[in-house]
Amino acid sequence: MAMSKVNQWRMLVEALAVALLISTSLIKGAAGKPPHIVFIVADDYGWFDIGYHNSTIKTPILDQLASQGVKLENYYVQPICSPSRSQLMTGRYQIHTGLQHFVIIAPQPNCLPLNETTLPQKLKESGYATHLVGKWHLGFYKNECMPLQRGFDSSFGYLSGMQDYWTHFRHGSFPNFKDGNHWLGIDFRDNDRVAWEYTGNYSQFVFTERAQRVIQQHNPNQPLFLYLPLQSVHGPLQVPDKYRKPYAHFHNENREIYAGMVATMDEAVGKIVDSLKAAGLWEDTVLVFTTDNGGTPHAAGNNWPLRGTKNTLWEGGVHGNGFITGPVIPAKMQGTVSKHFMHISDWFPTLIEGVAGGSTAGLALDSYNMWDSITKGTPSPRKELLHNIDPLIRADHPLGYGIDEETDMIYPLSGVYPKVAANFSTYIRAAIRVGDWKLLTGRPGRDGRNSWYPPPEWNMTSITPLTPAEKLTWLFNIAEDPCEKNDLSDKHPEVVADLVGRLEAYYKTSVPVRFPNETVKANPATHFGVWGPWE
Ligand SMILES: *[C@@H]1O[C@H](CO)[C@@H](O)[C@H](O)[C@H]1NC(C)=O
Ligand SMILES: *[C@@H]1O[C@H](CO)[C@@H](O)[C@H](O)[C@H]1NC(C)=O
Ligand SMILES: *[C@@H]1O[C@H](CO)[C@@H](O)[C@H](O)[C@H]1NC(C)=O
Repeated sequence: MAMSKVNQWRMLVEALAVALLISTSLIKGAAGKPPHIVFIVADDYGWFDIGYHNSTIKTPILDQLASQGVKLENYYVQPICSPSRSQLMTGRYQIHTGLQHFVIIAPQPNCLPLNETTLPQKLKESGYATHLVGKWHLGFYKNECMPLQRGFDSSFGYLSGMQDYWTHFRHGSFPNFKDGNHWLGIDFRDNDRVAWEYTGNYSQFVFTERAQRVIQQHNPNQPLFLYLPLQSVHGPLQVPDKYRKPYAHFHNENREIYAGMVATMDEAVGKIVDSLKAAGLWEDTVLVFTTDNGGTPHAAGNNWPLRGTKNTLWEGGVHGNGFITGPVIPAKMQGTVSKHFMHISDWFPTLIEGVAGGSTAGLALDSYNMWDSITKGTPSPRKELLHNIDPLIRADHPLGYGIDEETDMIYPLSGVYPKVAANFSTYIRAAIRVGDWKLLTGRPGRDGRNSWYPPPEWNMTSITPLTPAEKLTWLFNIAEDPCEKNDLSDKHPEVVADLVGRLEAYYKTSVPVRFPNETVKANPATHFGVWGPWE
């Protein structure tokens, strides 16, 4: 039977409507494609050591990029490597991922929990190609923990926290961390393959070249997420002489080398931006630059005039260098300084929702989308920041817990670690910001780490406050006292009580700490001299 005229018409109209829908969505897809994201993480880069904070160390390229974008001057990170990276990758506090304590040590069977959704996984939902060049440091004991299983299309670099810049071998950096300290192995991979062929090539140059290749080979019609967690400027202090020479006037070997390492990083960022321009991607790029934590004066980094160091909850550990730049930033915001309260975890919803146009629905985030704040100057949605609660670092640590002089960590010597207290106590190392108030409890940093360290090239001695051993709380108004000089805990006991209450409330939501013992199965000697998954 022949179709009725009405039905024929209806089918034609429907077909036309579908065609129209497809074509408009295609047009929208081409023109409305989200911008490329290049996300650069410097390692252990001190507050003082970027040219626009003080010109002692020169960073002309970073200065220029920052001055064309938005300098984030009220921006916070975590005090050490894995924690900052875990929060960037999940938008969640460490008390909710079990990574509250220290970093992931190479011989530990530990990684970013596999049920966490990562930033690159979410960006892929918005069509991004995702590439990692540099340092992972979120665990690798089994294949499922590796970057290629956590949302990256390609991954190049090293898995643990540190390595030799030239040999790409990793050996112990933690003198008291038992056996794993002495285990030597290569930690360098090109996707799944161990990459021996870069031995003798300085990692900053190798990473720059790889990043440039990713950019050159990228299809410009697809949004790019290039995650570049650089090795610079983490110890060991190593740099080609040419970069160190301009700092001979420092008369301080370590600081000269460190400044040279900063120079290689500055140059690398310039080369990467040049490649983005040459590939025609730059006009459509958002570039973020951030440190992972404060500098460590013991490895020549500096946070002057902030108090404290890497691995402390003082501002020197957590008030980070950061900026966002690129032609995608609206013209009226280019060249501005943002005082909006922001944390490294906030990049997660900011990039997924604000930049990529995706959604974080269904994820229990501890972070905020800052995109309006960055692009329109609207007030920051963040009013509070849990710096951390680490129940394994206690001012009343029992016998059997060692103190690592180098890393300033209290950690189990015996492999038996503390029963974590059911309730929060001010013996526990913790810190929180609520508005302008900051409360620190327990031991924010050990002895000397509570000091103000002038840059070594000034030949001044550090300023160490006398602190009674029984002191467990410190209170500062950070807006008025960004260098934490005036402890107001005696003057405002009601604020202390209030903020301790907030810490108690957070502590109740904590998941158990994951800090498993090192295992001999990790020893590269049993894997052809290679660090890599052993389970
Ligand atoms: C660097 O610090 C010194 C000492 O605080 C100060 O005199 C100088 O102005 C600073 N330079 C810049 C560019 O901030
Ligand atoms: C992952 O599993 C742990 C343990 O069951 C749980 O505490 C945590 O909340 C889970 N994370 C997510 C994102 O669901
Ligand atoms: C390593 O460095 C040498 C000397 O600079 C260079 O010729 C070579 O191309 C580099 N190799 C790689 C794989 O980067």
